[in-house]
Amino acid sequence: MDYPLISPTNGNVLREDGAHFLTDGERRWPVVDGIPFLRPDDDLRLAVVADLENGNERDALCRLLADQDRFSPTLPPERAAIERVIDKKGLNLREAMALLSYGPVGDYFAYRWCSPTFTGGLHMLERTPAHQAVVEVACGIGHFLRALEQAGREVVGVDIVYSKLWLARRILGVKGPLICGDVEAGPVIGTSRPTTVFCHDAFYFFEFKEAALTHLRQIAAGGSVAVGHVHTRTSAHEAGFALERAAYGKLTDAFVRDDADFMLGWYGKRAVVGDPASVAVGWIEGETEHRAIEWIKNNDSLRKNPLLQERKISWPSAGWRQEYEEDSQCLNGESLPELINAEWPADVLTRYQKRLLINLPGSW
Ligand SMILES: C[S@@+](CC[C@H](N)C(=O)[O-])C[C@H]1O[C@@H](n2cnc3c(N)ncnc32)[C@H](O)[C@@H]1O
Repeated sequence: MDYPLISPTNGNVLREDGAHFLTDGERRWPVVDGIPFLRPDDDLRLAVVADLENGNERDALCRLLADQDRFSPTLPPERAAIERVIDKKGLNLREAMALLSYGPVGDYFAYRWCSPTFTGGLHMLERTPAHQAVVEVACGIGHFLRALEQAGREVVGVDIVYSKLWLARRILGVKGPLICGDVEAGPVIGTSRPTTVFCHDAFYFFEFKEAALTHLRQIAAGGSVAVGHVHTRTSAHEAGFALERAAYGKLTDAFVRDDADFMLGWYGKRAVVGDPASVAVGWIEGETEHRAIEWIKNNDSLRKNPLLQERKISWPSAGWRQEYEEDSQCLNGESLPELINAEWPADVLTRYQKRLLINLPGSW
């Protein structure tokens, strides 16, 4: 499916304007390494446009790879480190993120597959229409996009940070369109048929939640909108603009569930719903009956969960452990510290479901 791109500034559909540009009739938007930059940041946009107009594609790429979002806990990477990421053959995901100065965000993404909120998100997708293409907004480095593509689904990824999309393409091997844009500023893409829009572990970051939701619904064009793992003010996680649970309920007509319901759903269990102290919630506008997705078509892609080391958990950091423990409180016997000394089930797919085996990318 071909998606028209939409200018976040004047709302016009963008058209091609030479090899490296799109235009909205008033300004040029750069496309670097196949990823359109539609973030409404005029300083950065104009600098990248100037690089490209002067034939300096590498400068344009380095400039975009240095860009971060407002919540980044680290300083931008140095130019020399960025050059290594571009040039060094065989760099793995964790090395690339270290060079790009991701700091704790690098741990988050490297161990994303191990988090119960990741499988909660997979389960959430199993409660949306099976036949619709999926646009993941705030897709990070594309964990869900990769999983969906491996399950045979058509996907598009949107994120505000260019380098994350670049890693999604380069290291996670995501093939669908990737667009750098700010969903609070505009929908970024147009859709001509109902589409599932998925936004996970990101909605609390948005300052302008109603505008963001309007844009998610525009992209969905009558399809489902699934908003998952939305931190409430009860969460220890402080970044962003989390609301009280009840305030989220005012933003949607859908039933706002405890995130535990999605995390436990992965294990075929249900949560007690409506916990006012829930640390995170989620909802699906246009929810369907649960229908399992065949996430693993080839068992050879499964590897031992990197958190499991010699009958103990090797936590990537104290902060990651704290978040895992907060998220896994509801899991009732399914968390890794509870499973580590138990006998492994014989069936490979059950091991995958229990996160003893993980579908990591080859160059993890
Ligand atoms: C915690 S990560 C979650 C990534 C992915 N959804 C997942 O669950 O693995 C939050 C993501 O939201 C993105 N983000 C934050 N504000 C955004 C905005 N206004 N528009 C688009 N993406 C945004 C960040 O760059 C980051 O990749």
